[in-house]
Amino acid sequence: MQHGYGYFEEDKLGEIADIKLWRRILGYTSHHWQGIILAVILSFAVIGSSLLLPYLVRIGVDDYIINTEIPVPERLSGLVILALVFGLSSIAGFAANYFQVTVLEWTGQNIMHRLRQHIYGHMIGLDLEYFHKNPSGKLVTRITNDVQNMHEMFTSVIVTLFNDAIRIIGILILLFWLNWRLALMMALLLPVILVATIWFSRLARNVFREIRTDLAKINAYLQEAISGISLIQLFQREKETERNFVSINQNYFQSTMHQIKVFGIFMPLLDILASTATGIIIWYGGAQILKGQMTIGILVAFLSYMRLFFQPLRELSQKYSIVQSAMASAERIFQLLDTKSKLPIVLKPLRPQNTGTSVEFNNVTFGYDSANPVIHNLSLNVKQGETVAIVGATGSGKSTLVNLLERMYDPDQGRILLDGHDLKELDPIWLRNTVGLVMQEVYLIPGSIRSNILLDREMDEPELKVILQQAQLIELINRLPEGVHTKIGEGNLDLSAGQRQLLAMARVMARNPDILVLDEATANVDSETEILVERAVEATLAQRTNIVIAHRLSTIRRADRIIVMDSGRIIEEGTHEYLMVQKGFYHRLQNLQYIGWNERKSIEPAIR
Ligand SMILES: Nc1ncnc2c1ncn2[C@@H]1O[C@H](COP(=O)(O)OP(=O)(O)O)[C@@H](O)[C@H]1O
Ligand SMILES: [Mg+2]
Repeated sequence: MQHGYGYFEEDKLGEIADIKLWRRILGYTSHHWQGIILAVILSFAVIGSSLLLPYLVRIGVDDYIINTEIPVPERLSGLVILALVFGLSSIAGFAANYFQVTVLEWTGQNIMHRLRQHIYGHMIGLDLEYFHKNPSGKLVTRITNDVQNMHEMFTSVIVTLFNDAIRIIGILILLFWLNWRLALMMALLLPVILVATIWFSRLARNVFREIRTDLAKINAYLQEAISGISLIQLFQREKETERNFVSINQNYFQSTMHQIKVFGIFMPLLDILASTATGIIIWYGGAQILKGQMTIGILVAFLSYMRLFFQPLRELSQKYSIVQSAMASAERIFQLLDTKSKLPIVLKPLRPQNTGTSVEFNNVTFGYDSANPVIHNLSLNVKQGETVAIVGATGSGKSTLVNLLERMYDPDQGRILLDGHDLKELDPIWLRNTVGLVMQEVYLIPGSIRSNILLDREMDEPELKVILQQAQLIELINRLPEGVHTKIGEGNLDLSAGQRQLLAMARVMARNPDILVLDEATANVDSETEILVERAVEATLAQRTNIVIAHRLSTIRRADRIIVMDSGRIIEEGTHEYLMVQKGFYHRLQNLQYIGWNERKSIEPAIR
């Protein structure tokens, strides 16, 4: 919980007038311009129909209801025709609206689909450092929430804003056309409406921002608390985290109250303005009617248009806030899309055919954060077919060497060569196929044992069987009714740590890498499977170049050479016998190990 509020980032709101950003967002619509144009055309139909209705009322009132100059049956049939036109136009407006929404939704979903694919494809290729620096929740938000925000803007805002603008302009034109004097009177109210709306949009923007930030804080806090629940309970931090939560929760409460206040003022204010407009229409319009300068129908139409005029204003602030949050989302999405992998891939990456597979670290210095190196000017040569063991305290940098060799990171200084080729020149996929890695943690994918071993490989049964035998899995599999097709992973057969290790060995054997790296692969194994794992290790190591990082000294003892590391440096090097005679670090480690095999965890602090 010391990291503050996790990945909340809603305090940053998008700049609505960011032209560059708009251009980029609109770039994504380029494949779907037909849909957008269709939506715009349809919006003329939707608005046309809604603006036609008050006008029909005017005709009805003036030409038929109060017009005593024509006979009653004619007035009645005129009203019937008007009612029919009214009905048809409503239906047409409804249909146009339906198609507009459908087209927009379809277009919007398509654009978002493309965007999600694009983000995912980009993100998955980024370097590990990026993933370490960015919590997974944040990256998930990019593809889900942020894309959803943009979708909302595309479908509900851009076109409705367009609709509203056309509607307001249309209404003003109609009003002036119906009676310019009355329209002019009303136009006097326009500046007041404009000022009130702008003022409110500002306030509302801040309020929405507050609410979103506070909500995001609640989310982030919950996420941290829930993922750290075992720590909280173990160390009795319940009361304290609850106290923290109270204050975050309280902030959220206050900002929603703030919103209610702002809206509580603006909405009635709009109502007052609308009522004033109505008052002006009735007073001034009524006087004009009495003077015979205007008809009752126009007065009725005017009143209806007023209502249509104020409607979009009420929703404006909400839309404003949607656009704003979408702009912020867009900015974050593009920021992710602009992030380049820190592991540049050369234009023509090499995939050497025949590798002798020697490994060379040449004066390598590296730090996860380059100000604090964890590997210092380290040089190491592993010849073809050699098995090199690396030992050292936890945190001495053993796994970091593996990360560098798999090119999860690039060294800050120095070079790493595979058969004389700098890793940077090699195709990363080829590299990771050539350097097989078994780690302490084994990730299972939901599926059968077979698919877990082969992953994307194809292999016939006899070949697989050899691997199962070498990996000492055959006995386990023979015991299972469904054999290699037994489902494992969450909710299915649970493998023990040792069995997982064997599976990981089989996985690596199936890929038959030239170089094999075992990173504490045997650390978690129970004594029952230990012998099996030892055998599997032996089978895996055969005829390869191997780098073995291990706690079990029995594996290490058989290595051709042992490297002892401390704080990112090699401090001793040689065979087991040689190092024992030297009576240095390795010798001490060896003696400690004899005290107890099962006290590995307590040894580590001792050998620091
Ligand atoms: N992803 C990482 N980000 C930052 N620091 C790391 C990361 N992984 C390891 N370290 C640090 O690098 C140092 C070496 O770690 P590591 O290579 O994992 O040691 P070993 O495998 O020997 O236990 C340690 O100080 C560790 O805290
Ligand atoms: Mg390690």
